[in-house]
Amino acid sequence: PDIVIDVTAQRWFWTITYPNGESVTSFDGELVLPVDTRIRFDITAPDADVIHSFWIPAFRIKKDAVPGRTTTMLITPTETGSFDLDSTLRVQCAELCGPGHATMAMRVRVVEPAEFETYVDGLSAKGG
Ligand code: CUA
Repeated sequence: PDIVIDVTAQRWFWTITYPNGESVTSFDGELVLPVDTRIRFDITAPDADVIHSFWIPAFRIKKDAVPGRTTTMLITPTETGSFDLDSTLRVQCAELCGPGHATMAMRVRVVEPAEFETYVDGLSAKGG
């Protein structure tokens, strides 16, 4: 992969950690991805949590998030876009995981690589 993005699933939200170590959650952020870039997601859940499933409908692929283990998913987005224009550009939990399951979603935005760099640098500037 060109970059690795860490994904943590827990009841009932997602945490995304970008290559520079900065994190956002589905409460306060979105998953921003660079187009035409080989991306590996390293997906996990905390030991005391339950199984979730990391699903991005637009990419037609999903992978379980298993407590205490790391699973991986490889993708290369080929078009820019955003949830605002395409509701399948979202992270959606695809494993029934409790009362918050249906709300365990996060917007996805695919941007040019330079814009991705600006975005992740901006997270650092804000101190996380
Ligand atoms: Cu997490 Cu359903």
